[in-house]
Order: sequence, then structure tokens, then C-alpha cells
Amino acid sequence: MIVPENQADGLRKQMNKPNAIHSKKALRCMAIASGKGGVGKTFVSVNVACALAALGNKVLLVDADLGLANVDILLGINPEFTLQDVIFNNKNLTEVVYSSGYGFDFIAASSGEKDMVNIGNLRLDSVVQELLSFASNYDILLFDCGAGINHSVTSFIAAAPHTLIVMTMEPTSIMDAYALMKVTKQDKLSDNISLILNMVRSDEQGQKVFNNITKIAENYLFSSVNLLGMLPYTAGVHRATINRKPLVILDPDSEIANRIKTVALKIMGQQATPISAFNTEALVKGIMNIGDPNVLE
Ligand SMILES: Nc1ncnc2c1ncn2[C@@H]1O[C@H](COP(=O)(O)OP(=O)(O)OP(=O)(O)O)[C@@H](O)[C@H]1O
Ligand SMILES: [Mg+2]
Repeated sequence: MIVPENQADGLRKQMNKPNAIHSKKALRCMAIASGKGGVGKTFVSVNVACALAALGNKVLLVDADLGLANVDILLGINPEFTLQDVIFNNKNLTEVVYSSGYGFDFIAASSGEKDMVNIGNLRLDSVVQELLSFASNYDILLFDCGAGINHSVTSFIAAAPHTLIVMTMEPTSIMDAYALMKVTKQDKLSDNISLILNMVRSDEQGQKVFNNITKIAENYLFSSVNLLGMLPYTAGVHRATINRKPLVILDPDSEIANRIKTVALKIMGQQATPISAFNTEALVKGIMNIGDPNVLE
């Protein structure tokens, strides 16, 4: 397929020049997770990436889920190569970065679990170093994590300086979001947890749930939770999926699009982390365990 000229194309040219890497010393980075599946992580990832790009940021969205994840479906792009091609098939990172067509770039993933045992840690280490060097050309790095609370998800949470937990109003989603917060706190994976309440039927309902979760987190986890946004349940999301376009592009003046823009502005207000402070070991583990079916207790 023809991919429009993108940041990656520019970077491809730049990367051939010496000293092009680590052009930025710090970047904002978030792991987007949930525990329960199907709550809107990929919808949020794609639309927040889009909104951030529209606000002038260079954004790299990394699919930290299996290749059958929906990033490509939502964008109408079928990536030929994935991050695993860099690890196993000697592809260069610049060859697996695709333009979304909406001002941000993305890298797809596929499961490498089976082959991971045969790959040396050194190779993975060098891929992760390469990934961070590459990401340093961007302002914001987002990991769209898979469902479940497994070693991949917890590792991406440990690797990313900020965690965004997406939850809906369903009791199972609330319980899983809390379980994920608990693991994150108890295992000291991250100090910065924010929440997005998605598919909210009314702000009153969302606020009630948020108040409850805040109380529980303060009482049992000794931790405060930051509310990044409440996104309404709307048929517009379905329409956007059918059109294979991000909602913020298809329906830019809708209530939900405006709320996503506010989320993007809040992310821009977060502190950037020096590339040198990233937990590369956790990032290696996260990538190594993509598609891990084992749920952590
Ligand atoms: N605010 C919303 N209103 C209506 N439908 C929504 C909303 N957010 C997401 N959806 C729908 O919910 C479904 C799940 O969304 P999505 O694929 O983004 O979830 P996910 O958490 O990434 O799932 P998975 O855990 O499988 O990766 C999709 O059909 C999507 O269109
Ligand atoms: Mg998803």
C-alpha cells in the first residue's frame, strides 16, 4: 500500500546521518491498560494520538498487543511488518513504522512468544535501545496494551513513566481496573496512575464511580488517582470504526471529540522523562511477553 510521507520517512533520512539519534533528551510516555478487555483502550489510544498530533506533537503509538489488535483496523491500514520483524527478521525500526495518515506514526506488534526463548537478551536489549533512540525523535510515546493483567502489561506499566487505566461502568471492568491499580502500587510499577472512564451514560454516574474508586484507592492503596477524562457512550464510535477513521477526525465537534482533546491537553501538561531514566529491562520484558495468556493473581 502507499503510505503518505510521514515523520518516519523524515526520520529514515535522518537516521542515516551520524549523531541523529537521541535528538531529544526527554519525552512523555504512557502505557494504556485496563485489565478487562474491550473497554476502549485502542479507541482511546488512536484518538488521543490523533488529538495530540493535531495539537502539534510528534506522536509514536506502539501496539503492545497482538497483531490482531485493532489499531490497524481503526486506521484502515494493514501493516506488513511489525516490531517482531525487527527482533527476528533483521528489519530496521524505520521499516516497521507506519504513518497513520493523521499526523502520528505507529508500530504494530505480533506475537513472538514462541520464538522469544530462542532469542538472546542481548538482541532484545539492543532492539529496546534502538526503540528508545528512535522514540527520542518524538514528543510522546504511547503503548496500547493488551487485555488482562499479565507480565506483558505489568512490564509496560513499569517501563512507561505514566499509566493510563481505561475502565467502563461495568462492575467487572471496575474490579479489574482496581486489581490493576493494586498490582501497580504493590509492585511499585508506577507512581503516576490516571483514569479514563469510558462509555459513561451520564457524568453523574461517572462521577459516582470515580468517587468510589478514589475512596477505595486512598483507603487501601494509600494512593490518589487522577481523572484524565470521562468519555460518553456514543454511537459515533461505532460509525467511526465502520468508516475506519478516528472519531476525532470524522466527528471533530462532537462532545466526545472535545473531551478527547482535553485529555490530550492534560497529557501535554505531564512531565517529560529523560530517555536515560527509562526502565529498559521492563521494556524488554513487556515486548518479550506480548500475547502472554497467563493472568497474574
Ligand atoms: N465511548 C464509546 N462509546 C461507544 N462504543 C465504544 C466507546 N469506546 C469504545 N467503544 C467500542 O467498544 C469496543 C471495544 O473498543 P476497543 O477495541 O478500543 O477496546 P480495547 O480495550 O482496546 O479492547 P481489547 O482489550 O480487545 O484490546 C469497540 O467496538 C469500540 O468501538
Ligand atoms: Mg485493544
